[in-house]
Amino acid sequence: MYKRIAEPFKIKMVEPLKMISREERVKALEGAGYNPFLLNSDDVYIDLLTDSGTGAMSDNQWSGLMLGDESYAGSKNFRNLEKTVQDLFGYNYVLPVHQGRGAEKALFPSLIKKKGQYVLGNMHFDTTKAHIELSGARAVDLVTEKAFDTATPYEWKGNFDLEKLEGFIKEHGAENVAFILITVTCNSSGGQPVSMANIKAVSEIAKKYNIRLFFDAARFAENAYFIKKREKGYEDKSIAEIVHEMFSYGEGFTMSAKKDAIVNIGGLIGIKEDEELFNETASRVVPYEGFITYGGLTGRDMECLARGLVEGINEDYLNYRISQVEYLGYRLTEGGIPIQTPTGGHAVFVDAKKMLPHIPYYQFPAQVLANALYIESGVRAVEVGSFLLGRDPETGEQLESPLELLRLTIPRRVYTNDHMDVVADALISIKDKAKDLKGLEFTYEPKVLRHFTARLKPIE
Ligand code: F0G
Repeated sequence: MYKRIAEPFKIKMVEPLKMISREERVKALEGAGYNPFLLNSDDVYIDLLTDSGTGAMSDNQWSGLMLGDESYAGSKNFRNLEKTVQDLFGYNYVLPVHQGRGAEKALFPSLIKKKGQYVLGNMHFDTTKAHIELSGARAVDLVTEKAFDTATPYEWKGNFDLEKLEGFIKEHGAENVAFILITVTCNSSGGQPVSMANIKAVSEIAKKYNIRLFFDAARFAENAYFIKKREKGYEDKSIAEIVHEMFSYGEGFTMSAKKDAIVNIGGLIGIKEDEELFNETASRVVPYEGFITYGGLTGRDMECLARGLVEGINEDYLNYRISQVEYLGYRLTEGGIPIQTPTGGHAVFVDAKKMLPHIPYYQFPAQVLANALYIESGVRAVEVGSFLLGRDPETGEQLESPLELLRLTIPRRVYTNDHMDVVADALISIKDKAKDLKGLEFTYEPKVLRHFTARLKPIE
């Protein structure tokens, strides 16, 4: 039996959910072109599309809203945010932005100096890859091969393959690498953590070849929690101390604050000490995002963000948070559903290739499973597989993703463990009828970022 950790909060305000019938869900999904992104949220019972911007703020954060100082420049909320970031990460320079991709857009051109350079990561998130490419560079993923073997547990499936990293630098030349980006936790491999030892080793390689090192810090607190729980020597350190050490190995970060900082909108750029890099990046923040003390956020947003950063590293919260994800993973495993093991920080990833072996990658097994889950129980999840990956830009051929995953992404402080049971029970009941599910084909396929707006139909 899994020992669940109960929620370390009580509920002050509720948001009713609409429960619609199976017949209504069948109709809604057909209307949405068998693409859950196109469903109205009213037609969704439990929404596990993303953990981004979907968290519940605390009473402390909501009260911060009332203290918004909406001055165009030098707002006191900015100064509070700046000090919180400086203390937590040990970085001097802080630029607020509207969300993670705003940070990428402003920072990356300061780091990519030559067309065709490489940016080496464990696994880049899609918008990160897009901004690397928009800046003229090429994104390379060098995560450990162990990440692709979902059935075999490994504690650090977000780690860089260090041999591959050094091999790549030697083969292509350090001068052709713009920077290294460590994504913590590694969203694309399953919200999987990167160990402190791996971060340190990557930083040593970066130093040896004189390459700059940055973090994608969207889920920094969850990563620090895994280090505390799994890595020798960190069990007695506080999350704040671990965060401080992790970031001491890099020289800056981009952050979508919509995840671990538990706000509905917001992002950050942090730069340790390079004033020139700060000035160049700030000169892009102003035209793209807004003046350097607000970056597209209101004063009240910045207050909530400063408070959320502190709440996001609270250990009682993190204990409950990670345990909720683990509990859903436990229920699924008990019920015979194949998942990425161990479970990660923000989501459970179901291995749809194993669950629907009769559906080939070009008929999108994880999308088929997402649709079946919605019809079964009104739960919305998201495909991370060949449907998301898309086509080869040169040949137009559908690419085959190494993994066909269904991401059950858990918003922070929003759903109870009973909701997790609804999700698990639905997937378990689908398992017995899985062989009758049919693959999908396009009725409309946009050229860019097709997974958001494509329309599909089941192949009869
Ligand atoms: N980096 C990582 C690792 C992310 O997961 C995301 C967003 C971003 C950057 C971009 O941040 O959305 O604030 O602009 N991930 C969301 C998701 C959308 O569903 O995983 P953003």
